[in-house]
Amino acid sequence: MSDKKRVFVTRPIPAAGLDLLKARPDLIVDVYPGEEAIPRDELLKGVKGADAILSILTEKIDAELLDAAGPQLKIVSNFAVGFDNVDLNAAAAHRVMVTNTPGVLTDAVAEHALALIMAIARRIPESERFARAGKYKAFGPLLLLGTQLKGKTLGVIGLGRIGEGVAERAAKGLGMKVLYNDVRRDERFEGATGAEFRATADDVLKEADFVSVHVPLLPTTHHLIDARRLAMMKKTAYLINTSRGPVVDEAALADALKNGVIAGAAIDVFEHEPAIEPGLLALDNVVITPHTASATIEARSAMAMLAAQAVLDALDGNMPLNLVKAKV
Ligand code: DGY
Repeated sequence: MSDKKRVFVTRPIPAAGLDLLKARPDLIVDVYPGEEAIPRDELLKGVKGADAILSILTEKIDAELLDAAGPQLKIVSNFAVGFDNVDLNAAAAHRVMVTNTPGVLTDAVAEHALALIMAIARRIPESERFARAGKYKAFGPLLLLGTQLKGKTLGVIGLGRIGEGVAERAAKGLGMKVLYNDVRRDERFEGATGAEFRATADDVLKEADFVSVHVPLLPTTHHLIDARRLAMMKKTAYLINTSRGPVVDEAALADALKNGVIAGAAIDVFEHEPAIEPGLLALDNVVITPHTASATIEARSAMAMLAAQAVLDALDGNMPLNLVKAKV
């Protein structure tokens, strides 16, 4: 029997990370080759006997999976900043470390949120569909009018690293007024950007022209944006979501968009990924991207390196960076 340790990687990740693992002669690195999420039965088979799992956010890491892996498993290194796919209590009970990849994707996600804000405000995908369909017959003074951003109010819900990145770019780069709500007030950030704190998410929703959501998915943030809160927004306002799908009640959002409760939405994440509410797909006032907010070569390579390094640290008996733990 080989005394090599085994790492199971649930989907190909950028070479920058895989190469770090493969360079180690003391490791067997098995990578599930599919482009789509690994089926559950293959996942349960693949993790059997693994000392480390490098997982993608599409994989549910729960007690069943940890049992299937076996007691030698040391770490689940999650290739994402979000870790709502991991049952942290089960990991703690199995004495398995869990890590994530924060920081290195902040700029990519913030830039994507800004891209979504601009795309929905200036109706870019809709305009492109129009032009490609051969409908452009002449310059039109009333053709595809959008909304200017300068002087408008951006509401940021959740002022973590990514929320800050979006708020700062909007304030300094686009001349937007910024409001935010978070569990903590950040006066330093307010001084640096002119952002204003609001005590509740409702206050932000009522005042903002654009609302960008940047909270983790927790029991307390599930359907944070529901029909009741959508109805608080201005009729002319837009919702942007690059956080996690279930933070927004997607069916309620589709209804709100169809019935003119709000003006539009731009979303990168979905409640039941990869499925997308058909009601949303049918609408022109929605911009949709397929969970690609962190999808830059730079961010994904850095995520791969962080995730791989955490595996190496754990297997070498060192404490990995970016440990995440269940709240007690
Ligand atoms: C994350 O990291 O949580 C993103 O959703 C994917 O990069």
